[in-house]
Amino acid sequence: MRRLLVLLLALAAIFAVVIVASSGTKQVPYPEGYRSWTHVKTLILRPGHPLYDGFGGIHHVYANDKALRVLKAGSGTFPDGSVLVFDLFEAPEADNAISEGNRKVTAVMVKNAKLYKETGGWGFEAFAGGDPTKRVVKDPVKDCYTCHTGQAHRDYVFSQWRQ
Ligand code: HEC
Repeated sequence: MRRLLVLLLALAAIFAVVIVASSGTKQVPYPEGYRSWTHVKTLILRPGHPLYDGFGGIHHVYANDKALRVLKAGSGTFPDGSVLVFDLFEAPEADNAISEGNRKVTAVMVKNAKLYKETGGWGFEAFAGGDPTKRVVKDPVKDCYTCHTGQAHRDYVFSQWRQ
């Protein structure tokens, strides 16, 4: 009986540890509903551009309301909960038109100053083909943050709001 009690207590302790560990997870959530957020800008990278291999195609940038406020202000630190999305598509050219092809990747930056302090307070993730189950970032510092540090003076964000 006593053994059973000890075992139950041990199990309870293990569950508690698992719950605490997972609630502090660093995993960047898939940005549900971002297609209804505000479109910030669009850019097409064509063959010959130095970033073509990774980012070739047409991409749209979206911001949620928290991020949008800072973009519109033109400067400032993005508050926790700000989310920016970089949605990249193939850009097939036909009949003198460039159109959106298949989605290549949906890249995300989510602000949480404490959780992601090693990467400027931003969590970086990318979803292959826009599939929420296909995470592609192995090392957020090497894969994403290092390049975004060029924008440290704008809180690591490249995109700017145009009227
Ligand atoms: C080689 C440099 C480089 C790397 C590496 C890089 N980015 Fe970016 N990122 C950019 C540039 C440049 C823009 C601005 C694009 C534009 O102006 O439309 C950008 C834009 C973004 C945006 C929109 C917000 C903003 O800053 O304008 C998100 C979200 C984003 N990147 C996420 C990521 C993620 C996630 C990774 C890692 C998988 C990553 N980036 C890796 C250069 C980079």
